[in-house]
Amino acid sequence: MRELRGQVVVITGASAGIGQAAALAFAREGARVVVAARREARLQAVARAIRESGGEALALRTDVASRQEVEALISRTMEAFGRLDILVCNAGRGFIGWVEETPVEEYEQIMAVNFLGTVYPVRAALPIFQRQGAGHVIIISSVAGKRGTPLLSAYCATKFAQVGFAEALRAELAGGPVAASVICPIVTATEFFDVAGGRRGREGLRLRGPIHTAEHVARAIVRCARRPRPEVLIFPPARVWVLLNALLPRLTDWIAARVRPART
Ligand SMILES: NC(=O)c1ccc[n+]([C@@H]2O[C@H](COP(=O)([O-])OP(=O)(O)OC[C@H]3O[C@@H](n4cnc5c(N)ncnc54)[C@H](OP(=O)(O)O)[C@@H]3O)[C@@H](O)[C@H]2O)c1
Repeated sequence: MRELRGQVVVITGASAGIGQAAALAFAREGARVVVAARREARLQAVARAIRESGGEALALRTDVASRQEVEALISRTMEAFGRLDILVCNAGRGFIGWVEETPVEEYEQIMAVNFLGTVYPVRAALPIFQRQGAGHVIIISSVAGKRGTPLLSAYCATKFAQVGFAEALRAELAGGPVAASVICPIVTATEFFDVAGGRRGREGLRLRGPIHTAEHVARAIVRCARRPRPEVLIFPPARVWVLLNALLPRLTDWIAARVRPART
């Protein structure tokens, strides 16, 4: 099991929700945390909270859809701490709407944030991990990256892209000192559904099942950092849904269609 004290952790999307909870959770373990997102005041507040409880934190304003800004995030982390141990690719957003009402530009933009916003930091961090002979990439995807959900086509596509990217990366890194994991939360109570573009709110999607807290997901991320696992489904019964889809896609389509909202 890996000791997290003193480890340098970069977390994207750490100004809110799961990323913020993960930053606080890593700091409680004694890790040195670099928090990145676009809203600087909120980032600074997260870093301040960590410092006030005796931890070490650095806030770096970063738009993950910008390759230059992400490269600057990683190089400024190296300047500040001289190493990087764990990269948590968490920044992301959603779009809620039927395929025909989701603007094509939205598919482009959400892919830039959720998918390329994962690729850029991994590409920047991998040479460092390889040079160090140690490192861990943790990608926050979703159960929506394992089975498509009605009205979330753009979002699901990005989450599937993250899972495919993580699987390929894991196979490339297998047997070496660098680890890669993908974590798939279920619905989590954050600002996610309020800031998502398109139709408003979680209720409109008629999503079934339990709702986790950001802190619950953050604890699972920290556990995965301590003991790297290839893939974590935070709500284990969700694996039944994923398995059912792999074996009987017609049946899962039928179930998904039964529970989706009516067209309005
Ligand atoms: N909530 C759920 O139900 C749920 C379920 C499964 C998976 N997830 C995944 O969990 C991750 C975190 O979501 P959350 O629920 O914590 O949502 P959230 O509360 O809305 O937080 C999203 C975070 O991503 C950041 N972000 C968005 N666009 C960004 C950009 N272009 N550059 C940098 N940062 C950006 C936001 O910061 P700024 O706005 O300050 O940039 C914020 O810190 C996402 O990848 C999401 O897909 C969420």
